[in-house]
Amino acid sequence: MSKNRVCFTNTVLRDGHQSLAATRMRTEQMLPALDDLDALGFYQLETWGGATIDACLRYLGENPFERISALKKGAPQTPHGMLLRGQNIVQYTSFPDDVVEAFVNCAANRGMDVIRIFDALNDPRNLETSIRATLAAGKHARGEICYTISPVHTIEAFVEFGEELADLGCQSVSIKDMAGLITPKVAYDLVSALKKRINVPILLHSHDTAGLAASAYLAAVEAGADAVETSIVPFANGTSQPDTLRMMALLDGHPRCPDYDRVRLARLRTHFEKVYAELHAFTNPVNERVDVDILTYQVPGGMLSNFRNQLKEQGMADRYEEVLREMPVVRAALGHIPLVTPTSQIVGTQAMLNVKFGRWKMISQPAQDVVLGKYGRTPGPVDGDLLALVEKQSGRKAVTVRPADLLEPGLPALRDKLKEEDLPEDDETAVLYAMFPVETARLLRGEKPKEARTPAAPDAAPLPSASTGGRATRYVMHIESQKHLVEVEELGS
Ligand code: CO
Repeated sequence: MSKNRVCFTNTVLRDGHQSLAATRMRTEQMLPALDDLDALGFYQLETWGGATIDACLRYLGENPFERISALKKGAPQTPHGMLLRGQNIVQYTSFPDDVVEAFVNCAANRGMDVIRIFDALNDPRNLETSIRATLAAGKHARGEICYTISPVHTIEAFVEFGEELADLGCQSVSIKDMAGLITPKVAYDLVSALKKRINVPILLHSHDTAGLAASAYLAAVEAGADAVETSIVPFANGTSQPDTLRMMALLDGHPRCPDYDRVRLARLRTHFEKVYAELHAFTNPVNERVDVDILTYQVPGGMLSNFRNQLKEQGMADRYEEVLREMPVVRAALGHIPLVTPTSQIVGTQAMLNVKFGRWKMISQPAQDVVLGKYGRTPGPVDGDLLALVEKQSGRKAVTVRPADLLEPGLPALRDKLKEEDLPEDDETAVLYAMFPVETARLLRGEKPKEARTPAAPDAAPLPSASTGGRATRYVMHIESQKHLVEVEELGS
C-alpha cells in the first residue's frame, strides 16, 4: 500500500452543484469561497466544463470563459480542472477536430490547468484530438474511464482502456463512476490493477447516489489510489460526491488520511448552505437521498429525479417503472453503452419512446446514430436485428471509421456565420457558437435569458402524442438538468 497521504480534489464548483442544483450556481456565488478553497491545498479544483457552459449561456446569462478568468484570479494556487466530453466538447454530438482544438486552446488560454477527457463509449478515437490539443497547449490531460456494469465491461477491459489512455499521453488516469455503481470490492480490484499496469496517478470519481462512494473511495485508498474526489455539504453526498469532512472522518486514523483544515472547511460549509438556500428552486430532496434503486437501473446522478419529472410532464407518470425496465433492454441492444451524457439521454429517450409507441416503432435520431456507429465503436456489438432495421429504414450504412474523420473543418463556416450575424469572429465566440448558437448570440447582444429575468422552474414541452402523425417532431427533453432538443423521426410504420 502506498505510504503517501491520499489527495482530495474538490468538485463543489462543478459537479457538486451540477448534481444537486441543476448547475445553477453563479460565479458571484462562488467568489466568496475561493480564498478558502484555494488555501486548503486540494489536488485539483473542478470549476468548469460538464453542464456549466450550457447553464451559463442558457440560464445564467454569463460568459463561461469569463468565469474561468474570475475563478483563476480568486484561486490562483490550486490547479483548476474541467470536464470535457472528448469530440462532443460539452455538447451531445461530434464536432470537427479544428473546433475541438480551438475550444481546448481557449480554455487553456484562460488558465484551465487540467482537462478531464472522457468519451461515453470509451472509444479512444474520440479522445485523441482533445488529448493531443491539451498536451500541445502545455496542460494536463486526465483520461477518464467511464465505469459501468455489463457483460462486456470487465476489469481487464477497463485496464486495457486505461493503458490506451496512458499511451495517448494522459498524465493521469481516472475512473469516472458517473452513476455511483462501483462497489468497494471492484474499486479495490480496478485501482490495484491500474496501479500495477500504468505508471501515472490514478484517481477515482464517484457519486454517492446509492451510498457506495465513500466506502468505494476507502477501498481505492487501500489499493493505492492517488486521489479521490469530494465536495462540500450541502452540495455533497446523495447524487453528488461525498463530503470532504465525511471522507476525512471515514479515513480517521488511516495512515493515508489527508489533513485538510477543518476550520476552513466549516466556514465553506456555512457559505455553501447560504448558496444552497438561494438555489432552492433547483434543488430537490430526492437527490439528497441515498437510493439503491440506481443499482438496478444504472442511471447517472440526477437523471432519475429529472426523469420522473419528465414523465410526469409527458403524462406518463404511471409508466415510470415500465420505462426504467425498458432502459436495460435499450442499452443492451445499443451494445451495452455506458449511461453518461449524452448516451444516458439517448437511452432514456428511446426507452420512453419504446414504452409509448411500442418497441423500436419510433427510433430517435441520436439512437439511430449510435446504431450506425456515428458516436464511435460501442463496447459490445449492436443488436443485429436493430442494425438491419435502422439501415433499411434510414437508407444509411453503419460507419467504421473514426466518426470525426467524416466531418469537414468547422471554423471557416462558423466565422462566416458570425460575420453574417454581425457577431465577433474570435475563437471563443466561434466555439461557443458552434455548440449553442442561439444562446451565444443572445449573450453577445446583451439580452438576458428568460430564466435570468424571471427565476422559474425549467420548462418542458409535451411529448408528441401517437396521433400527431408528423414525419419529424421536435420536443424538449429535460434530463440531467439540461434542456436537450431531440429530433424524433418516425420510421416507417
Ligand atoms: Co460526476
